[in-house]
Amino acid sequence: MSAEATLTGVGVGPGDPELLTVKAVRLLREADLVFVPVMADRVQPTATAGRTPPGAEAGRAEATVREYVAPDRLRRLPFALDDRGGVTARRTAAWDEAARVVVEAVEAGARSLAFATIGDPNIYSTFGYLAQSVRALRPEVRVATVPGVTAMQELAARSGTPLCEGREPLTLLPATAGLALFADALAGPGTVTVYKGWRRHPELLAELRRQGRLPDAVLGRAMGLPGERIGPVDDTTHDLPYLSTLLVPARRDHRGGKL
Ligand SMILES: C[S@@+](CC[C@H](N)C(=O)[O-])C[C@H]1O[C@@H](n2cnc3c(N)ncnc32)[C@H](O)[C@@H]1O
Repeated sequence: MSAEATLTGVGVGPGDPELLTVKAVRLLREADLVFVPVMADRVQPTATAGRTPPGAEAGRAEATVREYVAPDRLRRLPFALDDRGGVTARRTAAWDEAARVVVEAVEAGARSLAFATIGDPNIYSTFGYLAQSVRALRPEVRVATVPGVTAMQELAARSGTPLCEGREPLTLLPATAGLALFADALAGPGTVTVYKGWRRHPELLAELRRQGRLPDAVLGRAMGLPGERIGPVDDTTHDLPYLSTLLVPARRDHRGGKL
């Protein structure tokens, strides 16, 4: 390779196209190619190598960046986004295939390659796995990231909840890490945010009830997207979309009480 190629993970926020940074928009506009993740089962990996098949369903990142990126610069990369159980064969194959497609683009002359990812690229994003896989094939490819607004921040803003004050810690955890972690954080002095809670919502609800925190908790479903719902946790609704975030504010009894 002659000039250096750079792969940049660009955080595009939780869904609202207005929640991209100026830097993210500039990078997306200037990139030779913009890759977006899609569910592996929605498109055949080999058929998508570098192409955007008509009719295939757009992923969230793609829908968010569409107004900033012309279709001829957009490329879908299938990932096993819904796999459970760690490093599955399907996941590994998808990372390897995606890295191969990126490296192929570099070999064809692309120098500025962006990967659009929801929220922030350094928070539970596929980008880290893609970057590692690309660097394993081509260590000379530079890797960079542009921070994005997280779902946690959007839910705090939309529900009017300060995330932390004074000496309070802030915990962000995935429900997939197990209920004990959630229970411990909830018993602590700070705000707790839970990602990936959709299938485990009933367990989370039970723990909220057990610790008397249900009345304070807020839930953000599909924020910035069609079908968005933001508000108190409804004790009876268990059927949540994957894009759901739970926020339990720290206990605060008076202004500045945690200073
Ligand atoms: C793989 S993580 C991605 C997190 C993302 N990188 C971030 O910085 O916010 C996916 C989880 O993020 C949360 N999430 C992302 N976008 C969301 C949205 N628009 N509405 C509600 N929750 C969202 C959900 O908890 C979802 O299960």
